Amino acid sequence: MSSPAPFAHIARMKKLYIKTYGCQMNVYDSARMADLLAPLGYRPVDDADGADMVILNTCHIREKATEKVYSDLGKLKRTKAARAEEGQTMLVAVAGCVAQAEGAEIMSRQPAVDLVVGPQSYHRLPEMIARIARGAGHVLETDFPAEDKFDHLPEEHAPCGPAAFLTIQEGCDKFCTFCVVPYTRGAEFSRPVIQIENEARKLTDQGVREITLLGQNVNAYRGTGPDGSPWNLAQLIRHLAGIKGVVRLRYTTSHPRDMDESLMLAHRDVKTLMPYLHLPVQSGSDRILKAMNRGHTRDDYLRLIERIREMRPDIALSSDFIVGFPGESDADFESTMELVRAVGYAGAFSFKYSARPGTPAAAAAKQLPDSLKNERLQALQALLTEQQAAFNQNCAEQTFPVLFEKPGKKLGQAVGRSPYLQPVHVDGAAPLIGAMRDVKIAAVLPNSLRGVLLSPAPLAEKALAN
Ligand code: SAH
Ligand code: SF4
Ligand code: F3S
Repeated sequence: MSSPAPFAHIARMKKLYIKTYGCQMNVYDSARMADLLAPLGYRPVDDADGADMVILNTCHIREKATEKVYSDLGKLKRTKAARAEEGQTMLVAVAGCVAQAEGAEIMSRQPAVDLVVGPQSYHRLPEMIARIARGAGHVLETDFPAEDKFDHLPEEHAPCGPAAFLTIQEGCDKFCTFCVVPYTRGAEFSRPVIQIENEARKLTDQGVREITLLGQNVNAYRGTGPDGSPWNLAQLIRHLAGIKGVVRLRYTTSHPRDMDESLMLAHRDVKTLMPYLHLPVQSGSDRILKAMNRGHTRDDYLRLIERIREMRPDIALSSDFIVGFPGESDADFESTMELVRAVGYAGAFSFKYSARPGTPAAAAAKQLPDSLKNERLQALQALLTEQQAAFNQNCAEQTFPVLFEKPGKKLGQAVGRSPYLQPVHVDGAAPLIGAMRDVKIAAVLPNSLRGVLLSPAPLAEKALAN
């Protein structure tokens, strides 16, 4: 008797194109959606042309981000029509934060959209696709279901290189007056430690060496520990650091209000925890911080920075800033510039305030003109760029371990990250992708460092021996 052809049970391979906008949580979610759709025969591709299904995993944080989604949908409508002329179909799905915020409105604005799925409902995608196949027309799923989506996502990940994201916490209860996240991602929710540990072990089994723990408010993490009591982020980090194969841990994004002493101590004690902290402050003016409902003052923030530097003197600091928040005066903006000078950042993101529908700040009386926002953004960005250049310059001639992640632009080149998250590229390192090696920084370029391999590699070996 002849055995059946291998893979005969798998339906025709279908092409899936996922475009990801916004934050790292969306990057993680996109990868999980691809994992979820793999058993249905969907294989990821890099282009919407020829795709059987396109998912736009969207971001609602600023007006520009949302508008980009609608302009991309306009293009997809044409691709879908061209495909229909060839007798082929293309499913168009909108996922992520615009899906959550705008729901059915997306389909009325762009009828080419077949399904809209909010960030808490991804595990329903296969069922939604089946409903469309049965001729259900448009399908919408944006409730915040009571059950945990993480319980329903597949356990297996597609291989993803040596550095991976792992979502440990979702949602936000902080309600900063400018921000849509509490509305698009819902209330703070932390995954249990055991679930995170299992996922981390699966990742290391696949060769992952660096894990970045993700959450909208990652340092507000309070997940159930193996002993049944709530664990904080520091406890989780110490626990994960003990997993064989975990060589580097990072976490993002933190809120100053939740930056507690135990997490600072983890930066001192846990060698696997990288010396990098993204701690958004948004503004250096107490008046504006209050209007933003940030729940901390400028001095609270500066004290935190002082303390973390006591614990880990070489830590690289980063932040987010908003300029032109309603009512921001010249003096308020100057306070932000002063705070930046006082801290000295290794890098930072800065944005013009964008009024978001439904948020309290959008209804504030004193909205500022775009010209003023531009002026302030330019001044702030010039200062931040200067600080970043100074931080990078300081790395010249230093030696540190680099975890090589992917090929570089030039043949034989590999790119990895320094402990401080800077991209480092090294010639002749292509065979080392996935490995950690000591690299001496030979040149500081505007957005990256160029290094040379050192051997033997005592620093990297010490880190790997952890
Ligand atoms: N949870 C994180 C950030 C989430 S959003 C935190 O608390 O810091 C990422 C960044 O987008 C924010 O830090 C903020 O700087 C920026 N942002 C959020 N809403 C914005 C708005 N309405 N206009 C401009 N920038 C905004
Ligand atoms: Fe938005 Fe504030 Fe929550 Fe960050 S802490 S996600 S800025 S509401
Ligand atoms: Fe954007 Fe949603 Fe992330 S609004 S920044 S994709 S949480």
